[in-house]
Amino acid sequence: MGKAIWKPGTVLYPVPVVMVSCGTAEKGNIITVAWTGTVNSDPAMTYVSIRPSRHSFDLIKNNGEFVINLVTKDLAYACDFCGVKSGRDMDKFKEMNLTAKKGEKVNAPIIYESPVNIECKVKEIIPLGTHHMFLAEVVSVSVSDEYLDESGKFHFNETEPVCYSHGAYYTLGEQLGTFGYSVKKAEKTKKKK
Ligand SMILES: Cc1cc2nc3c(=O)[nH]c(=O)nc-3n(C[C@H](O)[C@H](O)[C@H](O)COP(=O)(O)O)c2cc1C
Repeated sequence: MGKAIWKPGTVLYPVPVVMVSCGTAEKGNIITVAWTGTVNSDPAMTYVSIRPSRHSFDLIKNNGEFVINLVTKDLAYACDFCGVKSGRDMDKFKEMNLTAKKGEKVNAPIIYESPVNIECKVKEIIPLGTHHMFLAEVVSVSVSDEYLDESGKFHFNETEPVCYSHGAYYTLGEQLGTFGYSVKKAEKTKKKK
């Protein structure tokens, strides 16, 4: 068994795919973004990398704010649409029948239909080449209460989250374990012996 050597490229998959809302609640836009992730726990920090040619680029740059809206199976179609059509030509909230509501801490709109809305304020813009990275601090998070149980636990996996891998969208598969299960298993086996 050998290895084929490829030229450097973006092969880190699967990744989250998110709908980033920007602009204002009255005149909002949505861009689909796969180049995103968590970069710090406390303060909670994230990033989105966006090409300067996108309509959303100037909206985020000028307002210094955006919202990351997590994508569910029900939102997958709208997510793809917002990733192939530009806000220069249409109102994507209207086209996709989505509700724009002003964020708690930002003027950018949240997508009300998404179960998790992560409001962000831009801290730094780093030009990297094809994309500029908007490094941002999370300033507020809203979650849909239909997924909260009586004890306040949020059942995110019940929203059927969507990820992106090599050009295709997927929901999550089988659960293989929970955090630290490898060690717990080893301890159990040890105890048994
Ligand atoms: C699955 C998917 C992931 C994407 N990820 C990014 C991304 O990370 N950065 C980016 O600049 N564009 C990305 N795009 C492209 C933009 O979403 C697309 O160009 C969109 O039409 C821009 O909208 P706007 O002109 O209204 O800002 C992605 C598109 C899709 C379908």
